[in-house]
Parts: sequence; structure tokens; C-alpha cells
Amino acid sequence: MSSAQVSEGNERFNSEAANWDTNPVVLEATRHAFQTLKPIIQTMSSSSSHGLDVLEVGCGTGLLTTQVAGLVNTIVAIDPAAEMIKMLQTKLTSNSAPKNILPIAQLLEDPEDPALPPADPASPFGQRRKYDLITSHLVLHHVPDLEPFLKVLLGCLKPRGRVALTDFEDFGPQAKYFHPPSKLDGVERHGIPREGFADLMRKVGFIDVNVWVGWTMDVSTEEWSDAPSKMPFPFLVCEGARP
Ligand SMILES: C[S@@+](CC[C@H](N)C(=O)[O-])C[C@H]1O[C@@H](n2cnc3c(N)ncnc32)[C@H](O)[C@@H]1O
Repeated sequence: MSSAQVSEGNERFNSEAANWDTNPVVLEATRHAFQTLKPIIQTMSSSSSHGLDVLEVGCGTGLLTTQVAGLVNTIVAIDPAAEMIKMLQTKLTSNSAPKNILPIAQLLEDPEDPALPPADPASPFGQRRKYDLITSHLVLHHVPDLEPFLKVLLGCLKPRGRVALTDFEDFGPQAKYFHPPSKLDGVERHGIPREGFADLMRKVGFIDVNVWVGWTMDVSTEEWSDAPSKMPFPFLVCEGARP
């Protein structure tokens, strides 16, 4: 797939999909992301009469999606890697799986993409659904150009809808050790710069922007010869709202 919004190295996610859920770093980061997002979702839910409609962008195999699903009305889970989405679809065939998840294999480049569900099921070709909350986890560092990406997210929100995007922080030169040298395909940047990303969110049109450290976790850096064997990596929660 080639596009301004998807890295040429993204093919890696199709080949890694089958074993994605066995990666301990991914599992630990997802556990932290869910614990960090849960109070945000619960606070938003408490002022919503019908529960939240959520969009998760870059959902992968749905590790976070399936947990968030238990807290919300609906969740649309979209990812450009078709093999990742197949893994999620397989999970959803289990009797105990949540029934409110809609997986979509697509690179999201347009809030009115016909691949997204319609706002009104009676008008299948009408305006696309808008969301109370958009999440993404470990995705921002893979997106080649973050400005159009954020514009698409803004266009997918209801008025006063919110984003809560989680990814590791670019805290300086050592942030490059987050990925082992063998996993640099598709990495567009070594984490997210806290101030710079907040400024970009405001530039795109988000209000109530707050980019903060949600958690810090130790990650093995032993594949790098010039790094310590393990290092702490801060993760950001990037919040903002549509006016
Ligand atoms: C590191 S994985 C994280 C997957 C999942 N969020 C998780 O934490 O397990 C990054 C995911 O982002 C997806 N991705 C890459 N570029 C993207 C883009 N421009 N828009 C949406 N998703 C993208 C990849 O296909 C991949 O599934």
C-alpha cells in the first residue's frame, strides 16, 4: 500500500499479525493503556445517555478494542493491515467475545470514507457515523504525516467529541532504543514530542488539548550494543476535543 498516510514499512504488520498477541511489550503497553483510558472513558460515559460510540484507529488485532468494548456502546476498529483485522475477526467469532465491535480493514484517510458505518443505517450512502471518542495506541509513531492524520480524526468526531491517543514519548535521543534494530520498518519517528504534538493538535483545530505522561514502563533494549539492557519509556496520553 502506498499513501502519504501509511508508511512503506507497514507491510510488517501483516506478517507479524499471527504472533502479535504474544509480544510481551505490546501486552504490557496495552494493559497500561487500558488502565489509563478507563477513567477517561468512565467520566465521559457518565454524561452520556446512550453510552459512547468509539473509533479506534490502528487497532491491530484488537487487544485494546476488546477491553474498551466492555465500557462503551459501540466501537469501530479500523486498521490498514488486513491480516491484523483478520485476527480480530477471528477473536470475535468466540461466544464470549464482545458483540459491539465492528472491525474494518482500511487506511482511514477521509472521515466520509464509505468503508465507515453510516450515521443512519436507513441511509447507507449518507453521512458517515461521528464518534464521541477516538483512541489509538502505539500508532502515531508509524504515521508518516501527522497533520492530515489528525485532521481526519477531527472530522470523525461529534461536536465536543474527544480524542485520547496513546504512544511512547520522544524524550530525547535515547527514545530510538524503544524498537530493536530488527523492528524499525514502518517506524516514522522515535516517539511523540510532548510540546510539539500538543501544538500540532491545536493547529489542526483541537481544543482543550492536554498531552501528559500516562505511565512509564521498562522495555528491554538489549539488541542495541550501545544502550543499557533495559530502559524506562514514558507514554503520552494526547487528549483534545472538537469544538
Ligand atoms: C504497533 S501496531 C499497534 C497495534 C495495536 N494498536 C496494538 O497496540 O496492539 C501499529 C498499528 O498501526 C497501524 N497503522 C500504521 N499506520 C497507520 C495509519 N496511517 N493509520 C492507521 N493505522 C495505522 C498498523 O497497521 C498497526 O496495526
